[in-house]
Amino acid sequence: MDEDNRLVSNEVEDDETSLEGSLRPQLLSEYIGQKEIKHELSVYIKAAKQREESLDHVLLYGPPGLGKTTLAMVIGNEMAVSIKTTSGPAIEKPGDLVALLNELKPGDILFIDEIHRLPKIVEEMLYSAMEDFYVDIVVGQGPTAHPIHFPLPPFTLIGATTRAGQLSAPLRDRFGIVEHMSYYEPAELEQIVQRTANIFNTPIEEEGAHAIASRSRGTPRIANRLFKRIRDFAQVSEAHDSIDQEIVDHALKLLGVDNMGLDGTDAKLLKTMINFYNGGPVGLNTLAANIGEEADTIAEMYEPYLLQIGFIKRTSRGRVVTAAGYEHLGVPYPQNLND
Ligand SMILES: Nc1ncnc2c1ncn2[C@@H]1O[C@H](COP(=O)(O)OP(=O)(O)OP(=O)(O)O)[C@@H](O)[C@H]1O
Ligand SMILES: [Mg+2]
Repeated sequence: MDEDNRLVSNEVEDDETSLEGSLRPQLLSEYIGQKEIKHELSVYIKAAKQREESLDHVLLYGPPGLGKTTLAMVIGNEMAVSIKTTSGPAIEKPGDLVALLNELKPGDILFIDEIHRLPKIVEEMLYSAMEDFYVDIVVGQGPTAHPIHFPLPPFTLIGATTRAGQLSAPLRDRFGIVEHMSYYEPAELEQIVQRTANIFNTPIEEEGAHAIASRSRGTPRIANRLFKRIRDFAQVSEAHDSIDQEIVDHALKLLGVDNMGLDGTDAKLLKTMINFYNGGPVGLNTLAANIGEEADTIAEMYEPYLLQIGFIKRTSRGRVVTAAGYEHLGVPYPQNLND
């Protein structure tokens, strides 16, 4: 599959920006799944509004495409405040952060995506901003350099990351609300697919929605991507005036997505582990070099789902393929491996 055209990437394609925009739920009540998170947030939002205070800082973490950005926007809508969006790598120096903070009105939200990629010096400046709503800016140079105390309005920082482990402890500790987004249940994804079909005015049969949902790796973004491509197949096919099981199977076969939602890269990863490393253990970097992928891509996009469905597991010496992983590929599980 073409690099830019793969289903498991978190690169948002151009025509997808508008797709994602039109599909994003606006309110908690429209946001499907993540029940506990929604419940907790609804309490914190209500309480903050009653007290007329800013919402506590929120950290959202979990695999790509599970709805972190969407949820941040929903929080902004529910709080009825403005939300300013940026990302870790975009804030290069303290001045960039001060410029952003300076524009906030009381209660506003600053959303920092990929917050684990903030430069250290910017991150340190966030500590006082988050804790006591001020920053110290150094003005002047050499012997005349002196800090100026710069007060900020009470604001809410929402941070999102796919790599919570890469966040420093002092930063993590300054978030009062920390939510771990988990993979969606097939029934929830089915609802998301139905909702998407509805927005696009595309007839879909229950089995069709079910088939897409069960092959979306627990991920709304992938469900929507699959939907979009299958819809094209259905549209040009004379035999199908709605999305049914048959057209889903047909399209996914052509797209190289198997019955578990795994694609060519997943298969390559598992096969490399089995054929070259006897099922493991094998380290991330070795594996990445072998299959020609970035280690980060494997760690963020492929591995979490393979771990979740129990096809691989992590040991102190590296990743190993489990009996279920062997079975999925139709390779006999070696008896001498006790996993
Ligand atoms: N709970 C949900 N209900 C309905 N649709 C959802 C839900 N969560 C996500 N989506 C859909 O999935 C798409 C991807 O979600 P989003 O961009 O918020 O993911 P993300 O976690 O921010 O991903 P990344 O880590 O790559 O930034 C959204 O455009 C939205 O259409
Ligand atoms: Mg996002």
